[in-house]
Amino acid sequence: MAVLQIRKYPEPILKKKALPVQHVDDALNAIIDDMIETMYAAPGIGLAAPQVGISRRLIVVDATTKEDKHPLVVLINPQIIEADGFSEFEEGCLSVPEYTALITRAERIIVKGLDRNGSPVEIEADGLLARALQHEIDHLDGILFVDRLSTIKREFFKKRYRKTLKELHAG
Ligand code: NI
Repeated sequence: MAVLQIRKYPEPILKKKALPVQHVDDALNAIIDDMIETMYAAPGIGLAAPQVGISRRLIVVDATTKEDKHPLVVLINPQIIEADGFSEFEEGCLSVPEYTALITRAERIIVKGLDRNGSPVEIEADGLLARALQHEIDHLDGILFVDRLSTIKREFFKKRYRKTLKELHAG
């Protein structure tokens, strides 16, 4: 297992629509293990394959908090098949360091996909798990949470982020 390098905005792979996974095999499971290790090392509550330079439809999420236990979720070719309600929450992203913003998403979703054995699974989620799943699935379509900001807030973010990148590179 290895901790992979996390790609940062504005790297082009983060804007690309990822391709479906064709084979759930040992090679894919090795990538999944590396992604899980990378997520925990960061630390983050979710990671999508494009964030580690792999443009495939694969996510890992662990939305466990002190109050709320969730199993680790590995989803291959995830698809949101139901979404309802709205919730607002402060989001961040491992690919967008030093920035968070209030983002509106569905409150409850049902997602289907394959687990790491290649078996079909369906997950009903609300709260932080629903949010993390929506955020990671967005990554597979080349959408970052900052793409969901209003135009004015996005312009403000871009200005601030240029400074952040300079500071990170200087540091
Ligand atoms: Ni993210």
